[in-house]
Amino acid sequence: MEATVAVGERALVFIGFMGAGKTTAARAAASALGARAVDSDQLVEQRVGTRIEDYFATHGEAAFRAVEEEVVCELLARPPGPVISLGGGAAGSERVRAALARHTVVLLDIDPALAWQRAGGRRPLAQDRSAFDALHAERRPLYDRIADVVLTDSSRDVVRRAVPAIAALPAGTRMLWARSASGEYPVYVGHGVLGAAPRPRGGRPYVVTDDTVGGLYAGAVGDAAATIAIPPGEAAKTWEQAGRVLRALAAAGMEHDDHVVALGGGVVGDLAGFCAASYQRGVPVVQLPTTLVAQVDSAYGGKTGVDLPEGKNYAGAYHQPAAVLADPAVLATLPPAELAAGWAEVIKTALIAGGPLWERVRDPRADVDADLVLACARTKLAVVAKDERDQGRRQVLNLGHTVGHAIETATGYARYRHGEAVALGLLAALTLSGQPVLRAEVAALLGAHGLPVTLGPAVDHAAVLAALQGDKKRRGGRVGFVLVEAPGDIRIGRAVDPDDVARALGDLGA
Ligand SMILES: NC(=O)c1ccc[n+]([C@@H]2O[C@H](COP(=O)([O-])OP(=O)(O)OC[C@H]3O[C@@H](n4cnc5c(N)ncnc54)[C@H](O)[C@@H]3O)[C@@H](O)[C@H]2O)c1
Repeated sequence: MEATVAVGERALVFIGFMGAGKTTAARAAASALGARAVDSDQLVEQRVGTRIEDYFATHGEAAFRAVEEEVVCELLARPPGPVISLGGGAAGSERVRAALARHTVVLLDIDPALAWQRAGGRRPLAQDRSAFDALHAERRPLYDRIADVVLTDSSRDVVRRAVPAIAALPAGTRMLWARSASGEYPVYVGHGVLGAAPRPRGGRPYVVTDDTVGGLYAGAVGDAAATIAIPPGEAAKTWEQAGRVLRALAAAGMEHDDHVVALGGGVVGDLAGFCAASYQRGVPVVQLPTTLVAQVDSAYGGKTGVDLPEGKNYAGAYHQPAAVLADPAVLATLPPAELAAGWAEVIKTALIAGGPLWERVRDPRADVDADLVLACARTKLAVVAKDERDQGRRQVLNLGHTVGHAIETATGYARYRHGEAVALGLLAALTLSGQPVLRAEVAALLGAHGLPVTLGPAVDHAAVLAALQGDKKRRGGRVGFVLVEAPGDIRIGRAVDPDDVARALGDLGA
């Protein structure tokens, strides 16, 4: 990435809960920028002339917060350097939040268990575990609201690698730093990001798109060495089209240092990603997702591939993107049925996340914006970070997909959009989970977004059940199901009686 440096007026300000590693991260960022980091807690200690713990004990929290607010507001008004770390509670002040708007705010996200491991018993507000967890739950939405950038790791090396991408962040854009076993990459979300965010340095971009999206947005991507289009839709996610694209890349002279730019929905993302994984044994791919499905789900996590007549996504490879640029503005041209299809993945993701995302999404009037895209991306990336290769936890992301994929395969990838099949698959999964109340709520929600909640009469249930047996996640002759205990509590690898699956399909009858 371009290593432009955000010095001058706009500082990088690290925020986060106790134990998140703000001081370490700020030091690493500062050293990457050739500067020194400033720590607000140290300045507060200088101002009160004693340690924070002692000031807390003698004067109480309110007095401490008042001093902290003064010190931090002065610091943010005239930052002495490009990197600052703030005390965990400082962002609780409205004045501080207003002052932060002029800077790039980097949230170090940490889960409460790890935070307690690091800070428990060692800070004034980390004496009692349940109060600590409650404080974490209270502050998290506040942090999320003001963060321009989210990092989930404060270690020196990770921060140093992320700093160039953070420093090059276009105004009004938000960023996640995605991590998994085989790679790290920036995810940029924001209006206008399609043509504005930095992409891998060096090499030439080879745009792979479909005929519809290419006509609309290829111009916004900038100069491409070549633009190769496939026909739009799932029917083009084939081995034959992948071969055609690979040969077109070769004919256009693509070399190993060049990169593929996947401009389109999940079909283009999966197919172009697969071509990038295999072209000369692997070139980088930058994902520019243009559908809701792709912006909330398929562009992240590195699963690429094509369908075979024998099964959905039967040929593919793991190939993490070099960057993802999600611009919600492009969703304005998406046909309503495609937007609806994306809601199936949004609802699936919210069921997996539970908590604030589920509370937002369960409201049928919920709308798509950059926050929603970001929240879904974060949910998926948190899962992928722990299990890139689907060995365990990543299987939660297949919620609704076991039956959904079987419906797609049994209907020749032509009758239902992927998202529509997932909507039906979600309902089958909720039936199998023994969750009639949640199923009714989700059915109403899917219906409100224009998604099907019944299987068309022409769909052959026996063919769907047969396709289920070909699910590529079958192990030892058994297909493990992903079931829902409650929003935020998803169980994987569950054995389900074939008769129950047949009944769940029956429940989808018109
Ligand atoms: N890799 C993963 O982790 C993952 C996850 C979920 C889904 N997927 C895959 O994603 C695919 C479905 O993706 P999809 O729903 O995005 O379908 P899609 O890529 O076929 O796009 C849907 C339609 O919308 C059009 N379109 C795209 N962007 C547009 C825009 N901004 N304006 C106007 N038209 C636009 C396309 O031309 C196409 O006709 C499936 O093959 C599925 O398997 C992959």
